[in-house]
Amino acid sequence: MRRKLVAGNWKMHGLKADLSEVTAIATAAGANPSVDAALCVPFTLIAAAAVAAGDMPVGAQDVHQAAKGAHTGCISAAMLVEAGAGLTIVGHSERRADQYETDAQVKAKAEAAHAAGLGVILCIGETLDERDAGQAEAVVTAQVAGSLPEGADAAWLSLAYEPVWAIGTGRTPTEVDVAAMHGAIRAKLTALIGDEAAKVRILYGGSVNGANAASLLACADVDGALVGGASLTAEKFVPIIEAAASLSQA
Ligand code: PGA
Repeated sequence: MRRKLVAGNWKMHGLKADLSEVTAIATAAGANPSVDAALCVPFTLIAAAAVAAGDMPVGAQDVHQAAKGAHTGCISAAMLVEAGAGLTIVGHSERRADQYETDAQVKAKAEAAHAAGLGVILCIGETLDERDAGQAEAVVTAQVAGSLPEGADAAWLSLAYEPVWAIGTGRTPTEVDVAAMHGAIRAKLTALIGDEAAKVRILYGGSVNGANAASLLACADVDGALVGGASLTAEKFVPIIEAAASLSQA
């Protein structure tokens, strides 16, 4: 049985004034021990958030693939570990689009993060044009094949299926479409890494909120959620953690 993981992605939001939300979210996470929770915050907030979060892991939203070097503005995995991060997101669609990150770079980033001891949430997802063209599963499974790190293992790796058109839009795929895509991702993973694929968590992301979390999290092969806008406050994020917990107690 895969434990559900509910991870927040604060994107470019969060100043020290928001640390009270981190603490409130961590307190709720502690009260729901049947699920894992984490918050991925801006680099500048990691150290303070790691203190404010206590036992709840705090993560980054990106990492550079190199250990060190002449990469102005970038952050290494060792720097994230030193700051107090326990995990990082890699391959978010906003970075694939805005920073032109390729599958090969995402793979290298995941490998660098793991080598430094970080957990990894690796994002994949199709655009609306790709879905409308009937290419969604082909695109997403190709991203899995292209960006899956060497030595992929459920102990440190989760995938997050995030249809680009569902991110920040209030639109979500149908439960049938979510289950179908997660099944396709799991099948691709099985082809690539065999039995270990059954243990790897596949999160859903894209407009998850307190009202739709229970039905999305109940879909076959959905092992958690990656949440953007609704993770910024305890008021919005805690109901999602609680929805995951209520599904995990049965
Ligand atoms: P959203 O973002 O929940 O605001 O749609 C999800 C994400 O991009 O991880």
